[in-house]
Amino acid sequence: MKLENPSVHVATLEHFWMPFTANRQFKAEPRLLARAEGMYYWTPDGRQVLDGTAGLWCVNAGHGRKAIVEALQKQAATMDYAPPFSMAHPLAFEAATAVAKVAPEGMQRVFFTNSGSESADTAIKMALAYHRAKGEPSRRIIIGRERGYHGVNIGGTMAGGIPGNRKAFPAMMAGVDHIRSTHDLARNAFSKGQPAHGAEFADELERLVAFHDPSNIAAVIVEPMAGSAGVLIPPQGYLEKLAATCKKHGIVLIFDEVITGFGRLGTPFAAHYFKITPDLLTCAKAINNAAVPMGAVIAKNEIYDTIVNAAPEGQIEFLHGYTYSAHPLACAALLATQQLYVDEQLFARAQAMAPKLETALHSLKGARHVVDIRNLGLVGGIELEPRAGASGRRGLEAHVKCFEAGVLLRFTGDILALSPPLIIEEAQIGQIIETIRTTLNSIE
Ligand SMILES: Cc1ncc(COP(=O)(O)O)c(C=O)c1O
Repeated sequence: MKLENPSVHVATLEHFWMPFTANRQFKAEPRLLARAEGMYYWTPDGRQVLDGTAGLWCVNAGHGRKAIVEALQKQAATMDYAPPFSMAHPLAFEAATAVAKVAPEGMQRVFFTNSGSESADTAIKMALAYHRAKGEPSRRIIIGRERGYHGVNIGGTMAGGIPGNRKAFPAMMAGVDHIRSTHDLARNAFSKGQPAHGAEFADELERLVAFHDPSNIAAVIVEPMAGSAGVLIPPQGYLEKLAATCKKHGIVLIFDEVITGFGRLGTPFAAHYFKITPDLLTCAKAINNAAVPMGAVIAKNEIYDTIVNAAPEGQIEFLHGYTYSAHPLACAALLATQQLYVDEQLFARAQAMAPKLETALHSLKGARHVVDIRNLGLVGGIELEPRAGASGRRGLEAHVKCFEAGVLLRFTGDILALSPPLIIEEAQIGQIIETIRTTLNSIE
């Protein structure tokens, strides 16, 4: 798509070093968004684009929600900023209480960050601090999973398992190992919901525990459902096994719920969906509908108590935090967002829409280039056969063509991902699916 708005000159594109973007390709053919409301974006030249990805898995209540806008305006005019170290403001406590209210039972301690990446690194540090406080400082190894994504800070990059993301940054953190990915097209292609095969992939954790010795392992970090690496749904029984192994060996289980948190699967968290309570849970994105950068780590009360009680009275117990932790604007947006989720019953709505998305998605079975379709809650993944010698090109082309046809999707390599705002209507699901079908027919 060429820019048609004469007020936006290509020369102005050169200064912004774009994140996770093929900068040269993008700047040659920019795809800009200028306005958003409800289920839609508009481009600078006024074209309407249906948001099939809730921005970047984050705008769960839909765009430009009045209650959130008003809360932000009011807070900006009342108090722009307050220091969070050894000081606080009332909204920070209210925001933590709102999150604790929807968090799994026994996980009512909330530490605020500004992103999913910061949440991952914070959770890793919490796990280390917890073991130290318990008198087990030798527990330092972090175990992630191949194809896992935990953001881009050092802990998250190292615990993450996307080879391309790690390649240029080898061994920035000692003591990391990985279990294998659960992706198994040969046995599980076109599964609806959780695939039937693959619980045994969790046995890998027992192997690593025996290899490193439990006394050296601090934490296991996994996304209960992996989004960024291409919508990888946990096989039936897999997470239960992982959780049991962690419990047996005293290993902290961290669920990275940056994508699954706040209704994506039709429940507040994936922990509720799978009925598994981790020890630490990271979140961000939909926590405040992405209106202001914000993330959080939700800790089991026992983890908080152990760390806090191990320090002498009057001493800072956990030497970690961010200038913008619990930023007043982020907290104001959080409170308004959480209220919207309740008032509009959006998690229940996601649950009700999930079967409709499933049926529509799987109608693409047999469409050109499609080798797998998978879904859970309001998430869908469509895996395309990679073009010979040009892995990822077909995914990028499908993404660009869908955008030109008025639908925004995500792509990871040759996998297209759908994660619409929870307010999506059935007709809009139909529009997304038909746009994908037409697009796949039109690309090589
Ligand atoms: C599971 C998961 N963890 C962490 C992150 C990183 O979040 P952020 O981009 O806010 O740092 C993401 C981002 O998509 C994610 O999907």
